[in-house]
Amino acid sequence: MRHPDSRVTIHMAASLDGFIARKDGSVDWLETADEFAAGETIEPGFVEAFLKTIDCYVMGSRTYETALNFEAGGFGWSYGDKPTLVLTSRELPRIRDTVELYSGDLAHLVNERLRPKYRNIWFVGGGVVSGECLRRGLADEVRYSILPILIGDGIPFFERLDRDVALHLAEVKAYKSGMVELRYEVRGHRGQSQNAT
Ligand SMILES: NC(=O)c1ccc[n+]([C@@H]2O[C@H](COP(=O)([O-])OP(=O)(O)OC[C@H]3O[C@@H](n4cnc5c(N)ncnc54)[C@H](OP(=O)(O)O)[C@@H]3O)[C@@H](O)[C@H]2O)c1
Repeated sequence: MRHPDSRVTIHMAASLDGFIARKDGSVDWLETADEFAAGETIEPGFVEAFLKTIDCYVMGSRTYETALNFEAGGFGWSYGDKPTLVLTSRELPRIRDTVELYSGDLAHLVNERLRPKYRNIWFVGGGVVSGECLRRGLADEVRYSILPILIGDGIPFFERLDRDVALHLAEVKAYKSGMVELRYEVRGHRGQSQNAT
């Protein structure tokens, strides 16, 4: 049985030309220096309160490896004490009890394990996992934070989409930093392609 309000969100930040990282995986360009005078300010405490509403995270192994490097570099762990599922076929280090390595069918993980237990399930990348989540019809919502920069080449937001995915624009916010946050609901329905490969 699934949680009555369970919701799967894909969220990442990307350059205006649609890349989440450079080809070599680097994300140095995420720090931008734009200013949009008419934009909203993120109030202190808002991010903290918002993050509390997320019940669990799902990520690909390459995103996890980036997170491990960030933490090793002294930049902390972005996922708090929330359960964090890492998709991988490898034996990667588990640096905290909240991290679980998962190898298996993604639809099974989402529908049989996560939806019954959690309300707000967040896919936080990268492009391979986000692409699979959409291709399999598992996502309810896409949050796309566009940063004011073009990087020309890199890892795309969604890998290997093999068909159109219709969306409904539900929210737009522009921030003082020049970042624009788009929230789309995935139209059509999840059930349709869950068994597609
Ligand atoms: N800008 C942003 O907001 C943002 C957010 C997230 C990530 N990133 C960046 O994006 C890059 C990583 O993205 P990516 O697209 O290259 O990789 P990814 O999606 O993070 O990870 C892909 C890997 O996950 C494993 N995997 C995927 N689906 C699986 C499944 N169903 N079962 C088991 N394992 C599965 C496979 O690796 P194995 O070989 O381990 O099996 C696969 O190669 C990093 O550079 C990261 O910094 C940016």
